[in-house]
Amino acid sequence: MLILAIESSCDETSVSVVSMSDDTRKILSLETASQIATHALYGGVVPEIASRAHTEAISPLTYRALSAAGVSMKEIDAVAVTANPGLIGALLVGVNFAKGLAYAYGKPLIPVNHVKGHAAAAYFEHPELKAPFFALIASGGHTSLTLVRTPTEFVPIGRTRDDAVGEAFDKVGRVLGLSYPGGAEMDRLASKGDPNAIKFAPAAISGTLDFSFSGLKSAVINYVNTQNMKGIPTVREDIAASFTKCVVSSIVTNLEKAHDRYRFDILAMAGGVAANSHLRRKVSEFCESRGVKLAVPSLALCGDNGAMIGAQGYFEYLAGNIAPLSLNAHATAGKAAF
Ligand code: KG4
Ligand code: ZN
Repeated sequence: MLILAIESSCDETSVSVVSMSDDTRKILSLETASQIATHALYGGVVPEIASRAHTEAISPLTYRALSAAGVSMKEIDAVAVTANPGLIGALLVGVNFAKGLAYAYGKPLIPVNHVKGHAAAAYFEHPELKAPFFALIASGGHTSLTLVRTPTEFVPIGRTRDDAVGEAFDKVGRVLGLSYPGGAEMDRLASKGDPNAIKFAPAAISGTLDFSFSGLKSAVINYVNTQNMKGIPTVREDIAASFTKCVVSSIVTNLEKAHDRYRFDILAMAGGVAANSHLRRKVSEFCESRGVKLAVPSLALCGDNGAMIGAQGYFEYLAGNIAPLSLNAHATAGKAAF
């Protein structure tokens, strides 16, 4: 089945054509326009600018995605689109465009949850990945440990109680003078620093599988302010490395607790923060020590992209999740988290 998939929930417009079946998971094309350089000027995503940039990019990207895949709209079997969660104005651009295509070409319209889409990014390079599996989803807006019972039934068993982990990376990055979003640069800085230079309290909440990254972020900010007030120079690399060590060990602690309880044998790790080299290394060591298979997407598929929406869209389609043309976008996924 050929799916044209559209992602526009935040600051990347992305359109992809994927080929999916019981035994095929293939990206035929993936065209993405990033707005990061524009938003970096403001230190974060400006929703109004994001909506306008999506509006400008979506049509040419769709033409490019179809032509790179060598298919026409007639050959497309369904249109999948991120319908929640995200910036409402940004989501509406993708949803309305997808509705127009579905109506004009008489194709089924498949609404996709962005966070489920992140986990689905792992399907492409890991044919062994089949539900049920366990997922660590870590992005700029979401952090959870989740049981994926069926390809469409996600049950979170641990989550952040405040900031998402990517948000914490970005906020600490800002304090260290990095431009938005600081996550990838924090990764590089951390590689040059001493992870044992500063001890921060863990972000894993004991007795639960939840996290609090806001407390850790505040601890880093307090450390920097206190050192500045005392006139003691700080070493950015050491702060990045110590913060990253704390984040990574907190995640691994909760993965260990989750594995003790649920004994999963395959773990999918996804979302923008899954690109973090330190997290990838430690989660991979954890998986090796427990005999768990790790399914993590290549770097290009960790961040927001249309292909992941196409992969999840396929399973939503099989589950009968077809939307009417009255489909609306929603900024949150509601109480259910997914
Ligand atoms: O999944 P994503 O592209 O968008 C959301 O759905 O939020 O994730 C973006 C987040 C940002 O916070 C960004 O700083 C972070 O992922 N990120 C990283 C790395 N690359 C991207 N965080 C830590 N290390 C990285 N290498
Ligand atoms: Zn995302």
